Amino acid sequence: MAYEYILSEKLETGVGLIRFNRPRALNALSPQLMGELGEALQAFDADADVHCIVITGNERAFAAGADIKAMANASMADMLTQDLIARWETIHHIKTPIIAAVSGYCLGGGCELAMSCDMIVASESAQFGQPEINLGIIPGFGGTQRLTRTIGKPLAMEMVLAGRYLNTEEALAHGLINHVYPVETYLEEALKLAAKVAAQAPLAAQLAKEAVNKALETSLHEGLYFERRLFQMLFASEDQKEGMTAFIEKRAPQWKGK
Ligand code: CAA
Repeated sequence: MAYEYILSEKLETGVGLIRFNRPRALNALSPQLMGELGEALQAFDADADVHCIVITGNERAFAAGADIKAMANASMADMLTQDLIARWETIHHIKTPIIAAVSGYCLGGGCELAMSCDMIVASESAQFGQPEINLGIIPGFGGTQRLTRTIGKPLAMEMVLAGRYLNTEEALAHGLINHVYPVETYLEEALKLAAKVAAQAPLAAQLAKEAVNKALETSLHEGLYFERRLFQMLFASEDQKEGMTAFIEKRAPQWKGK
């Protein structure tokens, strides 16, 4: 499908690559761009050949946030009735693991989108921030919630109250991101990690993602119960039989996604 603000490509490694393509606006996340992202994510999620998705921007910006120009004149009634942010939630319904490959500005809705992915691989130039306070608003897509759960209250408060940015050293130290690489190689490294995920048993990867995400939303007791049920369920899959047989026969497994 042809998109205007994103580029979408299926790689031979079983990875779906989505690039934001609005460089002059630092990949500001306009309603159209987010609509296209949602469509591309759903298409990859429904594609039996895609087992991991990478979302990236360019070297200068992953995304500098929601499109300020598109919402500057909106009234509260517009924001409530149109609820454009609700459409961003497509990403939370994607079963396929998603990696954000982040370079440069990763701000506001951009940071929230990266946090909605399952892992973040960054370039040394990446900067993470929730500067909405400078615009007289607060984060609207999980910045106060996901950031606080991930990096803790004191630093999250400083970011949302004072607009403080985190560099990659800080983001790594506080568990916001997985890896940091030079600008020249961060995307290649993210794609390598994605290929590794894509090579796993698809049903197990999907349920593993679901179980880890559940940990952020439930009690330990409920989470352990949920995990055990998914673990038990996987014994109904052909891939469990194949994985364990391959281990015993000392050969590589051939996954079917069944
Ligand atoms: N929305 C719309 N346009 C944006 C944008 C945004 N979030 N961020 C940058 N741009 C545009 C600029 O308007 C500019 O366009 P023009 O050339 O047409 O004027 C172009 O991108 C380049 O930006 P700058 O000239 O500002 O570049 P810079 O290098 O001087 O500064 C920056 C870079 C620090 C990232 C600065 O652009 C900036 O502060 N951007 C806004 C960041 C922000 O506040 N993000 C939060 C948005 S609200 C949100 O995301 C809500 C939510 O939680 C969902």
